[in-house]
Order: sequence, then structure tokens, then C-alpha cells
Amino acid sequence: MAEKNNLDAFKEDQTVEVIDTTKKLKVGIIGTGWIADSHIAEYKKMDDVELVAGADLVPGKAEAFFKKHGIEGARCYPDHASMLDAEELDAVSICTYNRTHAECAIYALKKGVHVLLEKPMCVTLDEAVEICKAEKESGKILSIGFQPRFDPNMKMIKKIVESGELGDIYYIQTGGGRRRGIPAPFGTTFIEDKTAGVGAMGDIGCYSLDMVLNAIGYPKPLTVTGYKSDFFGKNPAYWTAENKPAAYADLFSVEDFAAGFIRLEGGIMLDFRISWAMHLDTPGDTVILGTKGALRIPSTECWNGSVGGPMKIYHEVAGSGVVTEIPILRDHSKGCFYNKIRSFLNAIKDGGTAPVPSSQIIINQAIIDGIVKSSELGHEIAIEIPEI
Ligand SMILES: NC(=O)c1ccc[n+]([C@@H]2O[C@H](COP(=O)([O-])OP(=O)(O)OC[C@H]3O[C@@H](n4cnc5c(N)ncnc54)[C@H](O)[C@@H]3O)[C@@H](O)[C@H]2O)c1
Repeated sequence: MAEKNNLDAFKEDQTVEVIDTTKKLKVGIIGTGWIADSHIAEYKKMDDVELVAGADLVPGKAEAFFKKHGIEGARCYPDHASMLDAEELDAVSICTYNRTHAECAIYALKKGVHVLLEKPMCVTLDEAVEICKAEKESGKILSIGFQPRFDPNMKMIKKIVESGELGDIYYIQTGGGRRRGIPAPFGTTFIEDKTAGVGAMGDIGCYSLDMVLNAIGYPKPLTVTGYKSDFFGKNPAYWTAENKPAAYADLFSVEDFAAGFIRLEGGIMLDFRISWAMHLDTPGDTVILGTKGALRIPSTECWNGSVGGPMKIYHEVAGSGVVTEIPILRDHSKGCFYNKIRSFLNAIKDGGTAPVPSSQIIINQAIIDGIVKSSELGHEIAIEIPEI
């Protein structure tokens, strides 16, 4: 157990942020639904941003969105293409449902606009490849919206792995989920194939994958045995118990549970499971096994940077097995949602690289795509990610 007075050692850097406001970036928002609220809230804190336009397929939704957030003068469009054709934008946030991520991102990049694309990157590996090609041709920044990356606890996982304390990593178990928690707060865009494309994997599974794959440097996946099911979402009784229409069961067309056994380059096995609904509280903690030590990360959805409890390192000291508890770190910054947006803007202004690069997240997408395909085929498959 760490001593209280040792906690200072875990404090994050308190560097004062200096933002050049002489050049304002013109930003547009594509898709003005649930997550767009969090994007606009953070953009409003940025003195170097002008929110000039928004687009949504639902008539009047973009107008109501800007009104709700007190933004005057923003021009509204009925879809991404009409906005990108009419406006001279520096950057866009793409906050649409998963099925339109690829077309919106490709269109924006081809227009020479920097893109912050919500997670999951898209639905299929083929789409991810096309997005990466458009990014390469455009030379613009494309960052994917994984805000937990900016949380100090999540960063600590990577620091521990990179410190060598665990030795060589050979097995990882990750994932998580909910006993009851299929998201349908504002309609059915998360549960229908035509809008979401993937279910629990695209909603929360991609975070668990990013948490561990980022820590170990995103090795390439080689093969996957995947499984997915929909026993809860397809059951009308599930929805009536949730005070939702029983007809949601007919609309439900993605997975509410998925699992995968993924062989990664470097001899690492990744054992992954994710749930929106099941008869269990959690499918388990995340564990990272190495030749010198192991790390246990208590079960967490991690989307908001939260951790399920203090992490523990199991290792040997002077020949004896000991457990070192890592205190939960407080975020001394303006928060992971702020940092997701700020790091994207900084990369644009400094000519830097994407804070959450597509070269990594294409691997995350390839695993999700592989689980879907393997599950449908009923056997293990090879994962091949083409060179971009
Ligand atoms: N980072 C996070 O914490 C977080 C949280 C929730 C959702 N998300 C992600 O954000 C995305 C959106 O989720 P949501 O809950 O806001 O969905 P939502 O259904 O509430 O909103 C999506 C909006 O996009 C609009 N849209 C779709 N295609 C469009 C197009 N071509 N042009 C203009 N508008 C278009 C829809 O009309 C809809 O209003 C999803 O990919 C989801 O995975 C991320």
C-alpha cells in the first residue's frame, strides 16, 4: 500500500497553457446529437476557435443545437456535404452515428479540412482503410475521439508497461460491460445496424481495446476468433423492463455481447469480451501478464477516464511475491474531454501529428471487424491490414 505522502510523486505536470488567439480556427460540427454537446461545450472554452457552422440530417436539429448552446450566427446545413461545400473551414468534429463516420471523414479530408472523428473510427476495416487513404492524400490532421487517452490513470497504464516493470507482455484480458445497459436514451441510433453498424464493441469495447493496445504500442493483430450475440436486445421483455417500446426488439440489429481471442504480433494473446447486457455484473478486470510482473486494472468502462479502483502490480521483490497498489490519480488538468479537443487544435496550429492517430486506431477497427467476420463465419480468421 502506498504511503499517503508518496502521492505527490504521482501528480501530473501543472504546465500553464498559452494559447495564441491571433489566428482563430473556423470549426464546424457534423452531427448535432448527444456527443456533439460535449464537443461544443469544450470548443466554447477555446479562445482560438470560432464555431461557424453545423450540419444534421434531422431538419431543425442543428439550429436547435446552436440555440441551446448560445452560439449566434452559426450557419446550419442539412448534411455534411452541403456544409463542407459551402464553408471555408479549418476543422470539423464528426459526431455522427458510426455508419456515416467514413463518408463524412473522407469528404472533409478531401476538402482539405482537419478532422476530429468520434470513436469508433467507423464500422468496417475497409472503411478505415479508405479514411486513412484520404487522410494521407490530404496531409491534414485526423484524430480519433478517444478521450480516456488523456486521463492520468490511463496514461499510467502505458507508463507502467513502458517502464519494463512487467517484463515482456504475453497475455492480456480486457473488456468489461454492464448487466443492463443497452444505450437508447434518445432513440435507436445505437441499436440499429443502419446507423450504428456495431453495438457494444463500437460503443464501449473499442475503449477497452485502446486502453491495452495503446499501452503495449498497438502491435498488429494476426488472427481472431470472434463471437457476438444479441439475446437481450432482441427480447421485447428487455425493453419493456427498461420502460422502452417492445418494438425496439425488432429494430435491434447489432451485438449486445461480443468476445474475441486475438493473436497479436510479438507472441501476445488478447482475450477480450464486452457486454451491454448479461446476467453478470462484469466479465472481469483487465489483466496484463508479463514475464516479470502483472498489472490488474479493476473493471471499468473507462470512456470518461474513470477507473474501477486502484490498479495493482504483482511482482517479486528480493524473491518474494509482493503487490504494489497504484493510487488513483486525480486529473489536475481541465479534463479528458477538454484535452481531446485541445490536443487536436494544437496539432493543427503547431503542424504536429494527430494526438490519437489513425495508424493506431485502424488496428482497433481491424479487431472489431475481425470479430464480426469470424463470428459470422464460425471460425478463426486472419486479419490483414493493407499498407496505406
Ligand atoms: N467519446 C464519447 O464519449 C462518446 C460518447 C457518446 C457517443 N460517442 C460517439 O459519437 C457518435 C455519435 O453518437 P451520438 O450519441 O451523439 O449519436 P446521435 O444519434 O445522438 O447523433 C448523431 C447525429 O448525427 C446526425 N448525422 C448522421 N449522419 C449525418 C450526416 N451525414 N450529416 C449530418 N448529420 C448526420 C444524425 O442525424 C444525428 O442527429 C457515435 O459514433 C458514438 O460512438 C462518443
